[in-house]
Amino acid sequence: MRVFLKVFGLHLLFFVLILGRSTGAAEEPLEPKALFEKRCSRCHNLEKANRTEKPEDWKAIVKKMKAKWFSGISDEDAEVITRYLIENRSKK
Ligand code: HEC
Repeated sequence: MRVFLKVFGLHLLFFVLILGRSTGAAEEPLEPKALFEKRCSRCHNLEKANRTEKPEDWKAIVKKMKAKWFSGISDEDAEVITRYLIENRSKK
């Protein structure tokens, strides 16, 4: 019985991992604006990010937000969002 549970548990884990990966891969890539709105409204509303900053400050802010626990922001996300913010919300 114990062995059965162990094997069953392992299969379940495996299954969850595979499923998680495949749904992740099927996700449509988001446009930079949509990605920013989705990722950056998770912990606070977008008002917080609705401001203009110097490009190097945006880099630092996105880096800081990405580093927060369970930010859900990947390296690629951070790159796209930083570029978006620098292009659209920079102090000239
Ligand atoms: C994991 C949760 C989380 C996510 C995701 C997140 N933030 Fe934040 N953000 C916070 C918290 C908590 C604070 C307030 C404390 C602080 O400043 O660190 C904050 C504060 C801020 C501030 C004001 C503080 C400052 O440093 O000047 C800005 C601007 C900001 N976030 C922008 C963003 C942007 C842009 C994104 C998307 C890349 C983002 N946040 C994603 C949690 C998050």
